[in-house]
Amino acid sequence: MSHRMAPEPEKSKTVAIYPGSFDPVTKGHLDLIARGAQIFDQLIVAVAHNSEKHPLFAAKERVEMLEAVTFDYKNVEIDLFEGLLVDYARSRKARVILRGIRAISDYEYELQMAMMNRKIEEQLETVFMMPAVAYSYLSSRLVKELARLGGPVKDLVPSIVEERLKAKFPSKS
Ligand code: PNS
Repeated sequence: MSHRMAPEPEKSKTVAIYPGSFDPVTKGHLDLIARGAQIFDQLIVAVAHNSEKHPLFAAKERVEMLEAVTFDYKNVEIDLFEGLLVDYARSRKARVILRGIRAISDYEYELQMAMMNRKIEEQLETVFMMPAVAYSYLSSRLVKELARLGGPVKDLVPSIVEERLKAKFPSKS
């Protein structure tokens, strides 16, 4: 039986960007970084400078925490970006935007963003990945609320983030 062989894979490297606010990075984000680092040749975790008007952590702190928790990944880089994501992606020669989808409720916003980005830059492909089920309810927003009200965040964020949250809300620790 004859069958059509797929062409040899291209040798060029696939650079993916995982953009977000990461205010702060959670174990859900880390799970996605681990998955992305296995699939793509280079993964750039890009922290949006001004995505929220009042982030809890300054952009520099968010980058510091990400750098600390991704230290072991040789093909993962942490960077900051401002302005349009598609412009940043072009400047980094990235072909893929990686985003995490937890529940159906994420889908509508993510679809809007992906379609808008595609409208501006057709060649840029958005790829969605799902985090482990254990993190499917996790968000930076809820982590911040828990920390602010003195709830336990130990299982939800890396220890460096737990420490920094304690420093932000000292009366609660
Ligand atoms: O972690 P978040 O807050 O869901 O990340 C959202 C982010 C930063 C990826 C998004 O707001 C973004 O891409 N901002 C950059 C500005 C931009 O390109 N906006 C148009 C998106 S359609």
